[in-house]
Amino acid sequence: MASSMLSLTSASPSPSASLSTQESLKGKLKLRSSGLSFTKEKINPFANGKSFGRVSMVAAVNASRFDGIAMAPPDPILGVSEAFKADTNALKLNLGVGAYRTEELQPYVLDVVKKAENLMLERGENKEVIHVFERVDDLKLFLNYLPIEGLAAFNKVTAELLFGADNPVIKEQKVATVQGLSGTGSLRLAAALIERYFPGAKVLISSPTWGNHKNIFNDARVPWSEYRYYDPKTVGLDFEGMIADIKAAPEGSFVLLHGCAHNPTGIDPTPEQWEKIADVIQEKNHIPFFDVAYQGFASGSLDADAASVRSFAARGMELFVAQSYSKNLGLYAERIGAMNVVCTSADAAARVKSQLKRLARPMYSNPPIHGARIVANVVGDPVLFNEWKAEMELMAGRIKNVRQKLYDSLCAKDKSGKDWSFILKQIGMFSFTGLNEAQSDKMTNKWHVYMTKDGRISLAGLSLAKCEYLADAIIDSFHNVS
Ligand code: LMR
Repeated sequence: MASSMLSLTSASPSPSASLSTQESLKGKLKLRSSGLSFTKEKINPFANGKSFGRVSMVAAVNASRFDGIAMAPPDPILGVSEAFKADTNALKLNLGVGAYRTEELQPYVLDVVKKAENLMLERGENKEVIHVFERVDDLKLFLNYLPIEGLAAFNKVTAELLFGADNPVIKEQKVATVQGLSGTGSLRLAAALIERYFPGAKVLISSPTWGNHKNIFNDARVPWSEYRYYDPKTVGLDFEGMIADIKAAPEGSFVLLHGCAHNPTGIDPTPEQWEKIADVIQEKNHIPFFDVAYQGFASGSLDADAASVRSFAARGMELFVAQSYSKNLGLYAERIGAMNVVCTSADAAARVKSQLKRLARPMYSNPPIHGARIVANVVGDPVLFNEWKAEMELMAGRIKNVRQKLYDSLCAKDKSGKDWSFILKQIGMFSFTGLNEAQSDKMTNKWHVYMTKDGRISLAGLSLAKCEYLADAIIDSFHNVS
């Protein structure tokens, strides 16, 4: 056990306070420093009630104040990459974290991102925010940090991309948008808003859901419960269960919905089902809370992937939407996203935005600029924007191709007659294989296929060349482990 120094300073307690101060001091020392060998005077600086001056004490201790902190378990998603790194087998395959890879299984920086970064270099942009007064030539104001709400040009384009620039909610300034630390940071900010302004309100979360959703609401002290979503019998949507659970929830709950490409299942409601979900949410006076992490990346179309959010907004509903640019622009490590709250008036939006800023300031002060500039440059420039759409179609297309090849390989190799067609019905970067935890463990331990224990595989990390190997691994794990 490491030996450490304990330093304790107490500022002049009043005589009347001395007894309780002594007792609490003794208690603290006893608790925190087992194995001490102090003299009584050293332990008790206020003995006889005479020593009321500033007392400083330094003693060697054998115990750490951190002994009570247990080792945290690895993260169920990001921890998979750590295990993958440690595996030396040449066949290993990382299908854990949802990150896009090329056919050669290499990370991919989008061409439009490189172009946007070159533009930023050419313009000589520094690491501050520059406000140029349009009417006064050459007058520039250096603002140092981004404002708490983020880069104005980013906030404008991100809300327009989500709702469509002509959407009345944009035109009438009913959306409170603040730049967030990607999807997670945006969700966390909204969770803080719920905790502060809707105390006791519950968030309904799909079962299953992305591995971090529950942590986010737990840490924000927002109560949550689950609604049925996945039907293991059909490896499809349990629509009846979902509707029943949303109906049964206390009026005014928040309903967390995945805007497109549900993570982890890849199972989305049909447009007709989305309308029914909206009906029930309206009936119950709930607030829809969309998590949009894959706009454009799921289907290849930015508009199609935002259709669920836009149909709810068209009903005049108040709603929350968290956005991420990790996948669709490949800006994983830039942590760029946004939190949008659609209100019923510009005035309400201004108030909500002011409170989001107030919550953000003590959490992280203000967001980083680099990713925001990239998004603003790509989405705000018609040429780059079109190039981005083409690149996104290519990425989405590659994922669709491996999905098809995996399905074909499973059908060709599996002689049991099992129906694998659910794989083709799923959308986005993930496939929910239906493998249970023991079967997923076998995938990793025997086949060196790294995946999350809920049976999710990231098809974005798979190449056409590896599909047959993966099919062998799935068939063996599925049929030979119960
Ligand atoms: C995932 O689900 O794999 C990604 O969203 C990465 C993450 O942060 O969990």
